[in-house]
Amino acid sequence: MFIGEAPGFNEDKQGRPFVGAAGQFLEGLLSAGGLRREQVYIANVVKCRPPNNRDPLPTEIAACKPWLDQQMEMLRPRVVVTLGRFSMARWFPGQSISRIHGRPEERDGLTVVPMFHPAAALHQQALKATITEDFRRLPKLLEQLRQVDTASQPAPSDSDPAAAAEPRPEQLSLF
Ligand code: URA
Repeated sequence: MFIGEAPGFNEDKQGRPFVGAAGQFLEGLLSAGGLRREQVYIANVVKCRPPNNRDPLPTEIAACKPWLDQQMEMLRPRVVVTLGRFSMARWFPGQSISRIHGRPEERDGLTVVPMFHPAAALHQQALKATITEDFRRLPKLLEQLRQVDTASQPAPSDSDPAAAAEPRPEQLSLF
C-alpha cells in the first residue's frame, strides 16, 4: 500500500489518486521497484483537494483519518510505503524525511517504508536519484519479508484438508 498526501487538480477531477504528473513519475518509480500500478493500492492521507494545493491542515488530516483507517483495515497491507511527510507522520511523528527515507521500520505490525514525495522529486532534480534508489531497494525488502512470512507459517494441517487448501488472509500476498 502506498499513501500520498492529498488529491491535486487532476486527481480531484478524476476521483483517482496520482493520475497527474506526480502519478506518472510514481509509475516510473514503481517500475524501478519491480512493481506495476495494478499490483499495489494507492491512497491519500487527505481525501479532498486542499485549495491551491496548500499543505493539508491538521484538522483536515484528522477529519480524513477514519477513511484511511478503514482502507487499511480492509486491505490489511503487509507493507506501507509513505510518500512525503504527511503520511510519514502517522508512523514517524516528529521525524525528518531527509533522515529516515528509504529505511523500513516495523510499526503496529506493519513494515513501513518512508519515501520522499514523488512531486518533491519532480521539482528537485537531486531528489530524483535518491527516491529512485530507495524504490530500487523495494524488491529485496519484499523478498526478505516473504521469506520471513513463509518461515513463520505453520505447516498445513493433515487433519483439516479444507484449511490446508484454503489460503488464510495473511497468506494472500499483494505482490
Ligand atoms: N500527490 C498526492 O499526494 N496524492 C495524489 O493523489 C496526487 C498527488
